[in-house]
Amino acid sequence: MSRPGRPRSAAAPFFCTSCGNESLRWEGRCPSCGDWNTLAEAPGAGRPSRATRSRTHTQARELSAAPLRDAALSEANRLTLGVGDLDLVLGGGLVAGSLVLLGGPPGIGKSTLLLQAAASIRGSGGTALYISGEESAPQVRLRAERVSREALDIDFLGATDVEEVIRAADASKPALLGIDSVHTLTSTRSEGPPGSVSQVRECASALQEYAKATRTPVVMVGHVTKQGHLAGPRTLEHLVDAVLHLEGSRGQEYRILRATKNRFGSVDEVAVFRMSHSGLISVDNPSDVFVSGAGEASGSAIAVVFQGSRPMLAEVQCLTSKSRFGTPQRTTSGFPAKRLALLLTVLERRAGVAAIDRDVFVNVVGGLRLMDPAADLAVAAALASTELDRATGSRAFVGELGLGGEVRLVPRLDRRVAEAGRLGIREVIAPPAKSHLADDRKAVKSRSGDPKVVAVSHVREMVEILG
Ligand code: TYD
Ligand code: MG
Repeated sequence: MSRPGRPRSAAAPFFCTSCGNESLRWEGRCPSCGDWNTLAEAPGAGRPSRATRSRTHTQARELSAAPLRDAALSEANRLTLGVGDLDLVLGGGLVAGSLVLLGGPPGIGKSTLLLQAAASIRGSGGTALYISGEESAPQVRLRAERVSREALDIDFLGATDVEEVIRAADASKPALLGIDSVHTLTSTRSEGPPGSVSQVRECASALQEYAKATRTPVVMVGHVTKQGHLAGPRTLEHLVDAVLHLEGSRGQEYRILRATKNRFGSVDEVAVFRMSHSGLISVDNPSDVFVSGAGEASGSAIAVVFQGSRPMLAEVQCLTSKSRFGTPQRTTSGFPAKRLALLLTVLERRAGVAAIDRDVFVNVVGGLRLMDPAADLAVAAALASTELDRATGSRAFVGELGLGGEVRLVPRLDRRVAEAGRLGIREVIAPPAKSHLADDRKAVKSRSGDPKVVAVSHVREMVEILG
């Protein structure tokens, strides 16, 4: 079997030291980020890369096409980590030979999550090698003591030289190689300080080469910038198989893990954790966390959205106030600003709720992001609720809003209603069932103990219910 080589992009002779964009010729200005004088010669561009060197003499024999059905399925080789819903976010566990980047702000729990994943593998009889360039063995040991007994059996190496790391991994052949973090590693094949674009690029591709050649999954922790983007070259995100983000606020105990890229699964799944005295604990009922106290005061409404394969309740809070400047402010967290602009217009034109000239603030509680269009009706309800000063009470809202003010049917309504019922919601405001989707609705009606479903076909009817 051919040993997979380095990514072809690594052969480009120039790269931008600011954004990592690669270029075939030198230019004064980076065509990608627009920064001046940032293009530098890529390390090793003139000479063949390690992988190319090892390949040239066998090239004629190795390069032959084969039917896809003969390709070895790495999907079958998934390593289950068993740390909450981490496996779900990964698409069903870590794929053999995959390179995963775990990003997040400082202090959020990246090292803890990596340590817990390694401990879980240790617990099921595998070996895990944990490399840290950030913390010393005693520091990691203190964390391990808090996490679990198995965590103390993880092999630890304090190292910052990527070649040394790969040598250690080659020697101990772990089931999982954890790197904390890629920004502390350096390679002798590159120049610049640790964390610089060229170093991160070089180290990540060396780790990728190791992962693919030995079929060992490698998880690297990565830093994020103040803006919340992964620090370093953009090529890093292209290079890896999956990018996971651990989010949440440091002061709060809940953490949300989501994938922003996943070659082996969906990017919609989320895992919710709580930071405790003994590491991250999975939250089995995220809906509970995100909606406590919702609907009691005006300006708050409950949405039922799908996060990947699971329905989840989310609380939307809105506040409006008189605008002090010419252009009204729109501040949103967890909901797309453009969608909000659309909902404000629909509310004004189709339901007579005029908040369009006012400053509008929208917040989705707990750091959830509502990408599901079914959240429209709940956001409109929260807006109408604050404008009319009427609480939404123990109701949930489901439905997509059209420009005419019509409430559109959303998929999997029955499961949304059931989830609302499970959490004590007594009334769900939802679009009427269409004939071709009648089965969905029948399922809703037939279950006893489910909340009452009140059908609204227009946003005006929803506002009337509140009024
Ligand atoms: P850490 O994993 O070091 O974060 P990161 O690697 O993302 O910088 O964890 C950071 C915080 O989590 C730290 O402030 C302490 C807290 N923590 C707990 O509350 N309980 C625990 O069991 C552990 C291990 C950490
Ligand atoms: Mg850390």
